[in-house]
Amino acid sequence: MSDSFANVKRLIEEIAAANPTTKVELEQFRIQYLGSKNVIKPLMGEIRNVPNEQKKEYGQLVNEAKNAAEQKFAALQDALESVSGDADLPDSYRDFDLTRPGEPLELGSRHPIATTMNRIVGIFQRMGFAIAEGPDIEDDWHNFTAMNTPEDHPARDMQDTFYLQNSTEMLLRTHTSPVQARVMMGQKPPIRIIAPGRVYRNETISARSHAQFHQIEGLYVDENVSFADLKQTLMYFAQEMFGTPKIRLRPSFFPFTEPSAEMDVWIGMDNEKNYRLSKGTGWLEILGCGMVDPQVLENCGIDSSKYSGYAFGMGIERQAMRLYDIHDIRLFFENDVRFLKQFSAVI
Ligand code: PHE
Repeated sequence: MSDSFANVKRLIEEIAAANPTTKVELEQFRIQYLGSKNVIKPLMGEIRNVPNEQKKEYGQLVNEAKNAAEQKFAALQDALESVSGDADLPDSYRDFDLTRPGEPLELGSRHPIATTMNRIVGIFQRMGFAIAEGPDIEDDWHNFTAMNTPEDHPARDMQDTFYLQNSTEMLLRTHTSPVQARVMMGQKPPIRIIAPGRVYRNETISARSHAQFHQIEGLYVDENVSFADLKQTLMYFAQEMFGTPKIRLRPSFFPFTEPSAEMDVWIGMDNEKNYRLSKGTGWLEILGCGMVDPQVLENCGIDSSKYSGYAFGMGIERQAMRLYDIHDIRLFFENDVRFLKQFSAVI
């Protein structure tokens, strides 16, 4: 049984020699000698095997070990507490000055396309239009077929786009008109929505045209919707956006509207900017519109003998160029901060 005595003695020496210098080490010390699974407990259990006449002495020895651990722990705890509380931190943290002013956050600004869209959306929201959205990656049916432009229809040529690899079904939408189909498939008239978003076309990039641009679609379907409603809505929009109700509707063609028109707004030629933007006519072309073709209503499950509607789709870039005097459409997509910074005051 001298083994048991020897074990306790060795433990006492071990405790005396232990030298935790950090809080982490001290915690390890505590767990080892004072924790619920400490190494002293089993030695206390050994007392069963100690001959009766030595039990008292053995018990005292084990208590000595326990006291030694407790005293050491208490002393070291005080010592470590009194030195800096961050003794366990790496050096790089220790010199951290919490009173230093923070690094300033670089605040960005809204993109001129976004502010222009917000303005337009606001105008239509005040007229009671709700906002609808659709995906940029669209399927052939929503983008073309539902919009009365079946495969092999020549109008598809004017809107060539980018197809997803290995698919003739999925494409980048060429206009926001597919959102018309998505909304009509999903809800019953009265429908009154606008759908802002990005659209794509396979076009050569120049100062005036780009392979990606933005549109806002409008759709109003109800009983007895007429061309007069469309015209009045567009005049109100022109007044709010351009400060003039002077608009011009030119007959046009879209497969999904009948009759169709393109709308110009009068911006005049008083200054060089407006002269250039209107190509010397004073008229700025901003949208296509018309009465929703009954076939489109039927394609989307709406009874065309009961309901009629109007739709329009307007380009954003040209309006933003006029608003902010920007001469090159490519600037919108280069994200050069020297360009973007100039709009930080615009909300
Ligand atoms: N989607 C047409 C275009 O991109 C615009 C349009 C929308 C015309 C709605 C009529 C009605 O050119």
